[in-house]
Amino acid sequence: MRKLSRNDPCWCGSGNKYKKCHMNSDLERARMGMKDIPVPRGVIIKTPEQIEGIRRSCRLTREILDRVEESIKAGVTTEEIDMWVHDYTVSHHAVPATLGYNGYPKSVCTSLNNVICHGIPDQTVLKEGDIINVDVTTILDGYYGDASRMFIIGKASPDAEKLVRVARECMMFGIEQIKPFADIGEIGYAIEQHASNEGFSVVRDYGGHGVGIKFHEEPHIHHFGSRKRGIIMVPNMTFTVEPMINAGRYESRLLKDGWTAVTIDGQLSAQWEHTVVVTDDGVEILTA
Ligand code: MF3
Ligand code: CO
Ligand code: CO
Repeated sequence: MRKLSRNDPCWCGSGNKYKKCHMNSDLERARMGMKDIPVPRGVIIKTPEQIEGIRRSCRLTREILDRVEESIKAGVTTEEIDMWVHDYTVSHHAVPATLGYNGYPKSVCTSLNNVICHGIPDQTVLKEGDIINVDVTTILDGYYGDASRMFIIGKASPDAEKLVRVARECMMFGIEQIKPFADIGEIGYAIEQHASNEGFSVVRDYGGHGVGIKFHEEPHIHHFGSRKRGIIMVPNMTFTVEPMINAGRYESRLLKDGWTAVTIDGQLSAQWEHTVVVTDDGVEILTA
């Protein structure tokens, strides 16, 4: 491939001249001795226009979670949460991404207590002391936003409250590692360090993912393991960080419905999720 010259359009798709855009950070990387950019195959580096679309979708995703936060309480069924999410989404001219996705039947995932992820809303009634993850993915004007939060119903046990808090800290420590040209493995390394320091384990069977133009894009984001995975982050990548943290063992088991993942030992699991964009000097949380 021909080397970019100063006045060429930048490789990132911004439409700006290379010298006004990524030339300096590329030179900096070269000084650090990084010759190639080992971006994985299939990663979509978004244009500024695409990022604006994803930002708007992520804003709606966050508003939907705020809507859930207002009304969630003991006595509500997970199917009612599904209804709130569905109605709020469509009334804002968007589409719930999970509805019909690979046959998934609902507009949201509701993962209660020992459920790790992809719990399907049903007649289950929330009760005092439950912990639940509500995971919302929105398609607005063709762009995807993906985020989830934990909710504690009334007051939970100190152990459950700690798990929910540490899971959120794990997500935030993971996000803090994000900056251009750092290895993508730094995210999972920071997450696992914190989880194991607090006596918890990290789920390995599910990870974060590129998101924005499609629901699940490259790359896969590990929430555990090596700091060096040989893939670096570059400006204008958008992806999720969504660690699932278990009170007991890390292994998961899939229920017969083909979706619901539960802990193998029946202990609690907690998860938080944000969609982020890598900026020129760090990270922006799009669903914050
Ligand atoms: N929102 C989930 C994620 O964070 C994916 C749910 S897919 C579904 O990646 F089909 F289970 F809904
Ligand atoms: Co996700
Ligand atoms: Co999600």
